[in-house]
Amino acid sequence: MKKWMYAAAGALCLALLVAFMRIGPYGVARLFAWLGRGSDFLYALEDYQRAADEADFTPGAQWRDTQGNLIQAHGGQVQRMPVPDGVGGKKEQYVWIGEDKSNGHFGNCFAVYTSDDLYTWEYHGDALRSIESRKQLAEDDYFAELYASCTEEELDEIYRCINVGTVMERPKMLYCEATDRYVIWFHSDDATEANPSYNYDVGMAGVAVSDSPFGPFRFLRRQRLSRCPKGEIDCYPSSKGEARDMNLFRDADGTGYIVYTSENNKTLYISKLSEDYTGLCAEPESAVAGRDFVRLFPGAMREAPVLAHGDDGRYYLMSSSTTGWMSNQARVWSADSIFGEWQNDGNPCVGESANVTFDTQSTCLFQAPNGQWIYFGDRWNPTDLADSRYVWLPASFKGGRLTISWAERWRWDAP
Ligand code: GAL
Repeated sequence: MKKWMYAAAGALCLALLVAFMRIGPYGVARLFAWLGRGSDFLYALEDYQRAADEADFTPGAQWRDTQGNLIQAHGGQVQRMPVPDGVGGKKEQYVWIGEDKSNGHFGNCFAVYTSDDLYTWEYHGDALRSIESRKQLAEDDYFAELYASCTEEELDEIYRCINVGTVMERPKMLYCEATDRYVIWFHSDDATEANPSYNYDVGMAGVAVSDSPFGPFRFLRRQRLSRCPKGEIDCYPSSKGEARDMNLFRDADGTGYIVYTSENNKTLYISKLSEDYTGLCAEPESAVAGRDFVRLFPGAMREAPVLAHGDDGRYYLMSSSTTGWMSNQARVWSADSIFGEWQNDGNPCVGESANVTFDTQSTCLFQAPNGQWIYFGDRWNPTDLADSRYVWLPASFKGGRLTISWAERWRWDAP
């Protein structure tokens, strides 16, 4: 064979390789579709494709755990934290907690999953369970053991707060090094006698605690949080200290914060937690604005808050507007310190559908092992909440700005 023939054959192979890489195995399969789909080769390609799917983020697609079940962790939070290693110690893993919406809107249990690579998630069951009947607290071993030390009145209250008819949303977890315990805060809500047809009239924060991130979590109480300071105009003076959509944040020095929408969803607050994270650092009656809490953007009507410390050193507070399950435009504020001056940075999303946050509502910002920031939003499906989708997108904090852009399929560890 002549030299030019080798060169031509090499060039052809290279061209075929590039073409294969560009159109992918499915593209190749389509080229040969006229042959029918009987060939083992094509099935092998399909398996390869499926495996590749599982190892990617495909925003908005169904996402299954390692057992093949749809992940049920909506309104959730993903973070790297110490978890039991099974032999008496701890190891670091990613933990995803969220609403298990298998039973729909109300009484959501809180499911927990773990992962090492953020692509594959192992299910650890419902870490906090809602209660089906008052009787269940005595008759079901799980609850009887968990609440063995409670009086009948306390059991009545626990049932009132976390029964299957109540609102249990946006669970977030922190690990407390000082107590070696895991603490969940969540939006705990219900109708009231005064307003029996509105399931969001109680407007409180629920707290639960456990020795393990996988539960069982023991419900402690639900409570109102910080109030509008004297001298400022309360946007909803008839109902002080409300807490609805919420999030948790642990600063580098270990201080915990709860960030939540209040004043009938009109105003955001950030309150410092107690050292064991199971309460506020100061009771709402005596808390001092600027030291124990901060009241933000009165009347702005924000919810789904997410607080993050960017790798540029600034704090970023992202939120949605208040249109229920429908998506709307996100907004981000940034500040040099949590109780400092917050500046409106506008919409962090760029590109097509940025005006509706890529059809999502914010719930978490976290970092992959290589430092890549990831935005996690919920794409709610109001007609089938259990099939609401997760949208994870690349985010960055550069030049004092949070930016989130769309990606069809992506990997945090792509070369
Ligand atoms: C959303 C909120 C969700 C849920 C929903 C109910 O605005 O972020 O967590 O409460 O409303 O309509």
